[in-house]
Amino acid sequence: MNEIRRGTLQEQTFYEQVGGEETFRRLVHRFYEGVAEDAELRAMYPEEDLGPAEERLRLFLIQYWGGPTTYSERRGHPRLRMRHAPFTVDRAAHDAWLRHMRVAVDDLGLAPEHEQTLWNYLTYAAASMINTPD
Ligand code: HEM
Repeated sequence: MNEIRRGTLQEQTFYEQVGGEETFRRLVHRFYEGVAEDAELRAMYPEEDLGPAEERLRLFLIQYWGGPTTYSERRGHPRLRMRHAPFTVDRAAHDAWLRHMRVAVDDLGLAPEHEQTLWNYLTYAAASMINTPD
């Protein structure tokens, strides 16, 4: 890409490595298509329109992986566990969330190494969001 400053290029962020905004747009859009068709999980989302929730998750993931910090400019510190406190995130909700995310990740067709990095994070983050025992 930069033929003059070869070797001095900044290391790319994960966000850039996987294709930037477009990749996260596709990921989260596919995820919410799954949510929309899952009556149980859908019932957890308070808004009639899933669009704003889709945008929040997209902006959060973009920021987390090194892209623009629009999420925090709009929403402040993520405090995700606190933001999930009003919802019953039990094992079943966790499994459903990850099931739809798995489909969305698969659809991206990332390089195996990138896919693993993303999936490891998502599984770890989902486990840490559980706030209600079975
Ligand atoms: C484990 C299962 C999970 C369930 C059932 C769940 C459910 C929900 C629900 C019902 C909302 C409210 C919709 C909204 O107003 O945005 C929400 C918001 C959100 N969730 Fe989750 N979530 C889960 C895991 C996660 C994970 C693992 C992440 C991050 C990797 C995440 C990131 C977010 C973000 C960024 C928001 C919007 C926060 C805000 O700015 O208000 N969620 N989630």
